[in-house]
Amino acid sequence: MRIIAAASRFGARACVWVRGKFSCVTVVVLTGATRGIGRAAAIELARRGAEVALVGRDPERVKSVAEEATAAGGRRIHGHVADLRLMSNIRALADEIRGGYEHVDVLANNAGALFASRNETPEGFEQTFALNHLAPFLLTNLLRDRLAGGRVVTTASDAHQSGRLDLDDLQSEKSYSARAYGTSKLCNILFTRELARRAPELHANCFHPGVVRTGFAKNENGIWKAVATLGAPFFRSPERGARSLVWLALSNDAAALTGEYIQNEKVVAPSAQAQDDTLARGLWERSAQLVGLPAEARARRH
Ligand SMILES: NC(=O)c1ccc[n+]([C@@H]2O[C@H](COP(=O)([O-])OP(=O)(O)OC[C@H]3O[C@@H](n4cnc5c(N)ncnc54)[C@H](OP(=O)(O)O)[C@@H]3O)[C@@H](O)[C@H]2O)c1
Repeated sequence: MRIIAAASRFGARACVWVRGKFSCVTVVVLTGATRGIGRAAAIELARRGAEVALVGRDPERVKSVAEEATAAGGRRIHGHVADLRLMSNIRALADEIRGGYEHVDVLANNAGALFASRNETPEGFEQTFALNHLAPFLLTNLLRDRLAGGRVVTTASDAHQSGRLDLDDLQSEKSYSARAYGTSKLCNILFTRELARRAPELHANCFHPGVVRTGFAKNENGIWKAVATLGAPFFRSPERGARSLVWLALSNDAAALTGEYIQNEKVVAPSAQAQDDTLARGLWERSAQLVGLPAEARARRH
C-alpha cells in the first residue's frame, strides 16, 4: 500500500492522511542496504516502525533483506535497484524515488567500498570517488526538495584521517593507492559540512561506525581481504556499527544536529582537513560540474 499525499511534518516524521486516518511514519531511503552496516540498519529501522526504501545493486539481495526487515516487524519495506557507481543509475533511482514517495524524511548514504587498484566506470569516473563521494553527492542533490525538513546521514570513516584531497586530481590520475578510500571518506565529511551550510532546511550529519565485521574489503583479494578476514573476531558487530546511523536517522537527541561528525553517538572533531570550509566549497563546486548539476545548484547560497 502506498501513502497517497504528504500533509505536514512533525519532528523527524512526515504525517499523512491515509484513507480517513492520520498516520505518521518516518520514510528512510537507505543505500548499501544489502550487507554489513546497511543490512543491520535496515532491520533495526524496520523494527522501529520506519518505512524503509532499501537500495542495493543486486535484486536478489535486496529481496532477501526486505524479507528480513519484514520479519523484524517492518510493514512498509520497498526495494530499489541501482549500481551507485553510475550517475545514470543514480538519476534513474532518484526519479523512481521521486515518483514513489511524496516525502523522504531520511536519506542514509551508506553504500561504499574500498578498491585496491584504480578503475574507471563506463562513465569515466574513478570508481572509489564515484561510489563513495559522487553517489551521495548526486543522490542528495536530486532528492533535496523531497527531503526538506528531513535528515541526511552519510557513513564516513575514521579512515578520513589518512585522506589527502587534491581538488586538481579528484580522479586520482596522478597516483592511486588505498589512500583513495580515506580521501573519499574525507569527502563525505566535507560534503556533509557544505550541505549543512547550503541547505539550512536539512539536518546533514555523518558518522564513523567503528571497525565493523562486514563484507568491507572482501571484494578485494590480497592484503585487504586478509586483514578483513583475520581481524573479524576483534571487530564490532554490524548491529553495533549501525547504531549511530539509526540514532542520527530517528532519535530526538540527534534532531538539532547539523554539519557534525559522529562517533559512538557523540559529536567529535574530524581531522583539520575535514574542517576546511574552503576545501569543502571547492569540492562541492567541482563535484557539481562533474555530475552536471545545473548552475543554480552549483551557485546556491554563495
Ligand atoms: N566495515 C567497517 O569497518 C567500516 C568502517 C568505517 C566506515 N565504513 C563504511 O560503512 C559503509 C558500509 O560498509 P560495510 O562495512 O557495511 O561494507 P559491506 O558489508 O561491504 O556493505 C557495503 C554495501 O554497499 C553496497 N555497494 C557496494 N558497491 C555498490 C554499488 N556499486 N552500487 C550499489 N551498492 C553498492 C553493497 O552492496 P552488495 O551487497 O551488492 O555488495 C553493500 O550493501 C561504507 O560506506 C564504508 O565505507 C565501514
